[in-house]
Amino acid sequence: MKDRVFNFSAGPAVLPEPVLLEAQRDLLALPGVGASILEISHRSRTFEKIIADAEANLRQLLGVPDDYAVLFLQGGARLQFSMIPMNLMGGGRRLCNYLVTGSWSKYAAQEAVKFGETKVIWDGKATNYDRLPESSDLKVDPKAAFLYYASNETIQGVQFRDEPDTGDVPLVCDSSSDFLSRPVEIKKYGIYYACAQKNAGPAGVTVVIIRKDLLPRSSEALPGYLNFHTHAEAQSLWNTAPTFPIYILGLVTKWLVDDVGGLAKMESINRSKSKLLYDVIDSSDGFYVGHSQPKWRSMMNVSFRLPSEELTKTFVEKAEKQGMTDLKGHRSVGGIRASLYNAMPVEGVERLRDFMVEFCEQNAGVAVAGQQRD
Ligand SMILES: Cc1ncc(COP(=O)(O)O)c(C=O)c1O
Repeated sequence: MKDRVFNFSAGPAVLPEPVLLEAQRDLLALPGVGASILEISHRSRTFEKIIADAEANLRQLLGVPDDYAVLFLQGGARLQFSMIPMNLMGGGRRLCNYLVTGSWSKYAAQEAVKFGETKVIWDGKATNYDRLPESSDLKVDPKAAFLYYASNETIQGVQFRDEPDTGDVPLVCDSSSDFLSRPVEIKKYGIYYACAQKNAGPAGVTVVIIRKDLLPRSSEALPGYLNFHTHAEAQSLWNTAPTFPIYILGLVTKWLVDDVGGLAKMESINRSKSKLLYDVIDSSDGFYVGHSQPKWRSMMNVSFRLPSEELTKTFVEKAEKQGMTDLKGHRSVGGIRASLYNAMPVEGVERLRDFMVEFCEQNAGVAVAGQQRD
């Protein structure tokens, strides 16, 4: 579509064009209903089908077994930073384990401290979160109520290839920024959760996939909304659910099933998209320096630096003039971050690749002459 830019935002992020077009139609009147998707009751037949379809699509894409509940909650991923320890540390459990691999898992661990003894069993701070642990580096406490980690650190651009091995300790994963980007084995997890606004829909809904045998841990003393059990029993309709975000999530997951052809296909597209940029970084003779060690590079968030602040600013400005937006890195890491979520078209990444090659050719000599690396 002519007026749309290639939007590399880390989130809320690009959505598939067919989804936006369908939503545009339904914003005025859902076919056969005559009212907008924004105007219907969360208890109507129409919405019951919308939420059931969204759940069915998620179950199909991720192969969610029957002994897991799929919850649609509000409060973003950040509410889960508290809800998870609050619920899983019930029944006298006092200890939890965390992997701190970047900003988001660090924030999560900071919240957990409020609910019990929070032991960080691996921290990447010493190398500025540019790498991840191997399973063999980890000593999970067998008494821990759970082990928490983030499968993809959105700011640093590091991504786990496999799940950490936790034995019998329930594994909890924040997959906010790589949700639905590749197949996963849900049965390895106690909780697998993600906010929607990167790969699954707009801001306003968070998907929590939880093994049902963990639900009895939630104490009745918890406030109703903060209790997983409440939501599982009410099938996410305890209060007025975020109807529009769930509707969009339903369309995005339908797009993944019907148009993309599933998560294995999606992963292979995502892998080739990110390779386009990492190849430029690797062949730029040090002009571009990736934040992550090559082994842990994220397929979703490609984070890299240029030789100077000034060149970084020029890069962002020139890219924007060529229809590529939101490339500025997060303030805590600096440089550039290109988020390549599922809905980013290959053509967008090809355009960025060509721009990076040209920008390097035009500026590498200048940077070397001035020896400006910050
Ligand atoms: C990996 C990860 N976890 C958690 C969050 C926080 O999500 P929310 O803003 O929905 O609370 C983000 C947001 O960018 C994220 O990237």
